[in-house]
Amino acid sequence: MNGMRTIKEVIEPEYVIEGAGVLLRRSIAPRISNLYDPFLLFDHFAFNDPVEGPIRGFPMHPHRGIETVTYMLEGSVHHRDSLGNAGLIGPGDVQWMTSGRGILHEEMPRRGPQGNIYGFQLWVNLPAVLKMTQPRYQEVKETEIPVTGENGVKVRVVAGQVGGIQGPVTEIAANPLYLDVTLSPGSTFTQPIPPGHTVLAYVFEGQGLFGDQTVSAVRMAVFNDGDHLQVSAGSSLVRFMLIAGQPFLEPIVPYGPFVMNTREEIQQALADLRAGVFVQP
Ligand code: FE2
Repeated sequence: MNGMRTIKEVIEPEYVIEGAGVLLRRSIAPRISNLYDPFLLFDHFAFNDPVEGPIRGFPMHPHRGIETVTYMLEGSVHHRDSLGNAGLIGPGDVQWMTSGRGILHEEMPRRGPQGNIYGFQLWVNLPAVLKMTQPRYQEVKETEIPVTGENGVKVRVVAGQVGGIQGPVTEIAANPLYLDVTLSPGSTFTQPIPPGHTVLAYVFEGQGLFGDQTVSAVRMAVFNDGDHLQVSAGSSLVRFMLIAGQPFLEPIVPYGPFVMNTREEIQQALADLRAGVFVQP
């Protein structure tokens, strides 16, 4: 379908408690309806209020059948997994983790110098043929993420292509676009996106005209089909994560940190965990 993408739905994030008591803003969560295929979940962590008390994080937990994408703006997340991988995702860094058949990992947020923790976690589905693939990490440091744009537009390209600039995260089944876009007042950003791809914009600062509607922080906009997205900033700036990808059009069965295609595959994941064969070296 040709034309500019218009808004289909605007989602107001809900506050939820996850992990060992972490307060998050959640826009979408895995559901059997799979409305945002290939995207499953989008969480925004912002522990900026000292009254929230100690940071509890996400102790060891499994994943199977999905990719988790952590993008930090302030503070950091220390992670380690059952395969011996460990590291720190700092401000401006991204970790694109393909769980494949299974990992067990721990994710522990840490405050930045201003006392803040601010970042996002996106879950991207894997197609049936890749759900039991080997786990894989793509970890990209702040300085390795290209920045492009002109006339008041600034785009950090995590995955996908903007005006010939290719993001460092590659070979992802959903063929995603994942961008951190800032528009100065009065500027306009236009991005071609293949028709049929799902497009989401998570607006976390200011407000702007997204296609045919104004969207203000903090909200997620979901778009109708079309071949390009146009966003304009009026008198204030606007900053958003632009998320787009190719739907797999497969049935899904989500169960906590697993997203598979059938109920039997979920039972298998639980049986593998109990039998201690969930993680294969
Ligand atoms: Fe996780």
